[in-house]
Amino acid sequence: MPDAPIGPWRLDGAVAVVTGAARGIGAAIARHLAGLGASLALADVEPMNPAEQAERLRALGAHRVTVHRVDVRDISSCIALVAAVAEEFGRLDILVNTG
Ligand SMILES: NC(=O)c1ccc[n+]([C@@H]2O[C@H](COP(=O)([O-])OP(=O)(O)OC[C@H]3O[C@@H](n4cnc5c(N)ncnc54)[C@H](O)[C@@H]3O)[C@@H](O)[C@H]2O)c1
Repeated sequence: MPDAPIGPWRLDGAVAVVTGAARGIGAAIARHLAGLGASLALADVEPMNPAEQAERLRALGAHRVTVHRVDVRDISSCIALVAAVAEEFGRLDILVNTG
């Protein structure tokens, strides 16, 4: 998947949650959404470096980036993720589940 936008559309102002975002398909989708101007809430069961993720994805065009330690097998962990996104962004437009 290309990191740069492939169409005329933009996602400025949209907030996307991506699970499994630490690597693989989730990380590739996060980079693509960043290129479209979305804000990103990155979720993974593995730890991610928030400063490193924010710097890398903001350089691609993301407005804001947050990082969340989430186990998608655990409903309380998923509820906490949604609550954190609601608190930090006030909206949730796109959900990508790869984890
Ligand atoms: N890569 C492919 O070609 C391909 C093809 C078909 C299906 N899939 C499926 O798509 C999914 C993602 O594939 P990938 O190649 O990106 O895998 P990957 O192993 O590279 O990345 C998966 C990510 O999900 C995270 N994760 C795993 N369990 C989690 C959990 N319980 N909660 C939160 N995060 C969790 C991992 O820590 C990792 O960062 C997998 O289920 C895979 O089986 C992949």
